[in-house]
Amino acid sequence: MVAAAQLGVLAACVVLFVPMGLAGWHLSRNKMLFFSGALFITLAVGVHIAPYFPVASQFLISTLTPSFSSSPPFRPFSCFSFLHDVSFLPLDSPSTFDWFPARSRSADCRFQKLSRSETGELLNGSWILVAGDSQARLLVLALLRLLLDRSAMEAVEVDLFRRHSDYHTVISELGMKLDFVWSPFESNITSLLQRLRGGPRLPEVLVAGSGLWHMLHVNNASDYGESLASVRKSAASIVPPFSSGLAMQPPHMFWLGMPTLLNPMLNTEEKKVKMSRIIWEAYDQEVDDSGVLRSSGGSFVLLDIGSLSHNCGQQCTTDGMHYGGVVYEAALQVMLNALLIESQQRI
Ligand SMILES: *[C@@H]1O[C@H](CO)[C@@H](O)[C@H](O)[C@H]1NC(C)=O
Ligand SMILES: *[C@@H]1O[C@H](CO)[C@@H](O)[C@H](O)[C@H]1NC(C)=O
Ligand SMILES: *[C@@H]1O[C@H](CO)[C@@H](O)[C@H](O)[C@H]1NC(C)=O
Repeated sequence: MVAAAQLGVLAACVVLFVPMGLAGWHLSRNKMLFFSGALFITLAVGVHIAPYFPVASQFLISTLTPSFSSSPPFRPFSCFSFLHDVSFLPLDSPSTFDWFPARSRSADCRFQKLSRSETGELLNGSWILVAGDSQARLLVLALLRLLLDRSAMEAVEVDLFRRHSDYHTVISELGMKLDFVWSPFESNITSLLQRLRGGPRLPEVLVAGSGLWHMLHVNNASDYGESLASVRKSAASIVPPFSSGLAMQPPHMFWLGMPTLLNPMLNTEEKKVKMSRIIWEAYDQEVDDSGVLRSSGGSFVLLDIGSLSHNCGQQCTTDGMHYGGVVYEAALQVMLNALLIESQQRI
């Protein structure tokens, strides 16, 4: 209450003295009245809508700082480049693997494998939106596996394996909303971004990625590049301009890269022809050239499924395209670490 009263007095002073200052600055009386009125309205509106925006500003900041169980080390932005240094090692039984963060070249960039409770703290209260093809679905599964126990997971897997459909869930203990939007083509991602732009809430974390469907059904890298340019534009304009007066935080955005394709293992002749190494490289180059990625001025941080799946290699896939859960677990942890680093920089 005291703080509110002080704020009120401060606001009154601003409304009174700023226009008086402007008057000293040779403004006419009408202009002074205009400024006074405009200031009053801005402050009044500001005071009334401010309480509706605490969620956005608290996200990932209040949740993290003092309460984080093993207080995360401060890591600079430059650590992003080390996050994908991961190795995969076989476990006792054949065809099961675990992954380990490689010993980083930089001691400041220690990778943290986040536990269930740390991930819960990090994502508490947030909306996670994932849009893409089956790679994106596998990332969603990895996230749910980390957050849910086995019995809850069995029910989820039935829904999530229903091909080509959306999936929505709320994890109520965490107040966390998770949406998977089936978006095999870049145009699907673009239209999703455009729908978000006009909406009342933006997700805190947005993961998007596609390319394999375009490769198989359109098979034209420069056309893919053009579609990505639309994704880049709609991602950049997702946050209303500051002048509109709405204090929305942009989501943390991640681009899910295409997996390494092992051509001889692909399960149809058409795929073997259209999804060759040369075409994969041309598509990958378009991602770099299109400017969707943060590294080339865009909004998305790359989750490099290409390099992770390459590291895991042939023993981690049965169809040369979809990899075992361990690859997407590693990608998920790369994302969580990136979120930790980003939220530390924002404090
Ligand atoms: C999530 O946040 C709410 C409100 O801040 C808190 O009561 C709850 O304990 C948190 N849950 C976890 C698992 O951190
Ligand atoms: C995705 O985009 C394609 C091509 O633009 C369209 O045919 C299809 O209906 C879209 N799918 C969804 C789920 O929006
Ligand atoms: C590939 O896509 C580009 C851009 O959409 C188009 O101009 C070109 O004609 C396409 N090439 C083929 C072989 O269809």
